[in-house]
Amino acid sequence: MNDDLEIFRQSVLSELAEAADLKAWDAVRVGVLGKSGRLTTLLKALGKMQPEERKARGAALNRLRDELSRAVEARGQELEAAALEARLIAERVDVSQPPPASPRGAIHPISRAVEEMTAIFGAMGFSVAEGPDIETDWHNFSALNTPDHHPARTDHDTFYIAPSPELDVTHVLRTQTSGVQIRTMLKQQPPLRVICPGRTYRADHDATHSPMFHQCEGLVIGKDITLGHLKGCLIEFLRVFFGKPDLPVRFRSSYFPFTEPSMEVDIGWSRRTGEIGGGEDWLEVLGSGMVHARVLANCGLDPREWQGFAFGMGIERLAMLKNGIPDLRSFYESDIRWLRHYGSDPLAPALLHEGV
Ligand code: DAH
Repeated sequence: MNDDLEIFRQSVLSELAEAADLKAWDAVRVGVLGKSGRLTTLLKALGKMQPEERKARGAALNRLRDELSRAVEARGQELEAAALEARLIAERVDVSQPPPASPRGAIHPISRAVEEMTAIFGAMGFSVAEGPDIETDWHNFSALNTPDHHPARTDHDTFYIAPSPELDVTHVLRTQTSGVQIRTMLKQQPPLRVICPGRTYRADHDATHSPMFHQCEGLVIGKDITLGHLKGCLIEFLRVFFGKPDLPVRFRSSYFPFTEPSMEVDIGWSRRTGEIGGGEDWLEVLGSGMVHARVLANCGLDPREWQGFAFGMGIERLAMLKNGIPDLRSFYESDIRWLRHYGSDPLAPALLHEGV
């Protein structure tokens, strides 16, 4: 090899060795092999040589180009591996480290109760359906067989949305999650099995009422669903939710416009000690019934073909009973001490096999 090429070769190899990172390496690569790189310029110069001279010089340059290309490639791989290694070291996370004990945050008892309900009904084949907080009067009342003059409309102390040119129909802040039943039946083909947890609103405020609270609705529609299914499903739910396999459950006939027959559901407890399942007294925990034929028809379902049951419960009420929380208002006060006390571990989700 000519002396000048040998000097060039040495200088490129040492520049490559000195390139400490991919950026420096790339500068060397472009400076040698790039369009106006040093080697490319030497190769271009061949065209101006006499044939004899060009032959010898060309062979030497081609060998040099192969060697330098391999050297550039090899150094690039080396630096890439080193960069990856450095990143892995810098970003190392020790997954075996326990999470910090504090501050870790906690799951609010309402969210926790929703998680528990979802786990229990989920195991029974229910899925979760949702609807809007601002609901049409039709979904919240009319479709649920509540006529205009019906007392339930005033009983619920409804917040009405002020009429405006953009709203073609009357809207309310939903007073119950029951409207999601309607939305589900209109949207999905039966058979259906859904629960609908969510926020609800009524103009009411004292130790046991809040203008914003939560309900969880349930709906099951099929061809041969009976009152027996309703009872079995709700007894099972209440026993698992309260963790008492022999919790006494009582069904008491009642009235809701959207079910026929309708029943309120009570659980056994002791007024004296506050103990759930304790015995002498009964406590109402939810409403339920067989979906009214008119409600089915309002959703385009033929009541001679489809039937089912529905239920609705106050989430705060169930969470208060389960956790011994005395005042409803404390749920929304964001008192950090209260949240720490009644909140649950975010790393321990509600799981059936762990007793929920
Ligand atoms: N929506 C009722 C309420 O707010 C609760 C309820 C009762 C829901 C019976 C139902 C039901 O789906 O079947 O008081």
